[in-house]
Amino acid sequence: MAIDYFGSPSCFRARDKPNIGREGLIVNPFFFRKQKSQTSLGAIAAVALCLVAFLSLAASPNPQPASPEATTLRHAAEARHIVIGTAAASFLLGEAEYASILGSEFSQLQAENEMKFGAIHPRPDTDPNPYNFAGGDALVAFAQSHNMVVRGHTLLWHNNVPEWLKKGGYTSAQMATILQGHIHSVMTHYASKVYAWDVVNEAFNDDGTMRSTLWYDQPGIGAGVGTKYIEQSLRWAREADPKVKLFYNDYDAEEINKKSDAIYAMAKDFKKRGIPLDGVGFQTHITPKFDDPAKLKSYKENLERFAKLGLELHMTEIDVRLSNGDTSSLAEEGKLYGEITKLCVEQPACKVIQTWGFTDKHSWIPGFYKGLGWALPWDDKYQKKPAYEAMHDALAK
Ligand code: XIL
Repeated sequence: MAIDYFGSPSCFRARDKPNIGREGLIVNPFFFRKQKSQTSLGAIAAVALCLVAFLSLAASPNPQPASPEATTLRHAAEARHIVIGTAAASFLLGEAEYASILGSEFSQLQAENEMKFGAIHPRPDTDPNPYNFAGGDALVAFAQSHNMVVRGHTLLWHNNVPEWLKKGGYTSAQMATILQGHIHSVMTHYASKVYAWDVVNEAFNDDGTMRSTLWYDQPGIGAGVGTKYIEQSLRWAREADPKVKLFYNDYDAEEINKKSDAIYAMAKDFKKRGIPLDGVGFQTHITPKFDDPAKLKSYKENLERFAKLGLELHMTEIDVRLSNGDTSSLAEEGKLYGEITKLCVEQPACKVIQTWGFTDKHSWIPGFYKGLGWALPWDDKYQKKPAYEAMHDALAK
């Protein structure tokens, strides 16, 4: 566990909200930096107070361990200009421990489900009220009141498709109209509130071919023409919001393999032709098997090749699913969390480290992978696990 240099938590309370620009997401790491440019007496007094706190701490023979607030993941990440995010659900915000950890340890929030197509657009466009922004809006409000940025997820995915769309018998042309309208409505609603969107999620098969989906070819809007429908969706997204960052997001594309090769080829082509793609999201749903030097090296080299295309890279959905929660498994998990965090810290184009939820109490893993769980940095009683310490250390080093 790293000790915070400044010791005094009050020096951190006045930190600034992460600052999002088109050039990159820049988190203002130090209270001092911003205050220096201001000349108010209050600012000078605050700096003086922090200095006094620091000097008295430095002079103390037994410095107090830094307070929990001073050692959050968020503080450690801010000093690295990295955003630390997590997926969240609005119906859990009423749980005091959930809300407290979410609002203090993370600088970014992403809706785990509530901005997905089926959740946000549950009724057809012929309905007087086709959209339901309630869950997403509640998450945005929480994020804003805790100085967190919001990442949008996701406009186009083969899952979470509403019944009206699945069963509507729409033609390709109608699907295109529906999708363009969806992208426009959702992005306009969250313009200036969401700084980056996973526009397209999981469009490739493991072998690098296009996944057969409602959006691609059933009937889809791009059957037989490869990545054309992704290109089209990115163009619509850019029209809807000229400022937001546009991402492609996928799983099992961390290492160099057929899927990541296909995503890379698409990204290279898009960059060359000026298609609006700002970044790639690497979900990073992994198991302890990933703790293998060859795999970690491959992830590192994969990030490097995407970075060379001028893309921003986000680790978007980190979790490590285990088959039991004994001490050695949790230690192994922690080591892997530390290694993954380090890969992002060491890659300048990697701007976001995000876990898929943060407490084992509410992880999606047990529901989707029978017998597996223990995947997140907090346990089901909201106690920090070795994974938390490892992430913090990797950020703080
Ligand atoms: C998952 C959620 O965590 C679950 O609650 C939901 O039932 C299904 O979707 N890849 C993604 C995420 O991009 O949106 C998925 O989230 C997990 C896999």
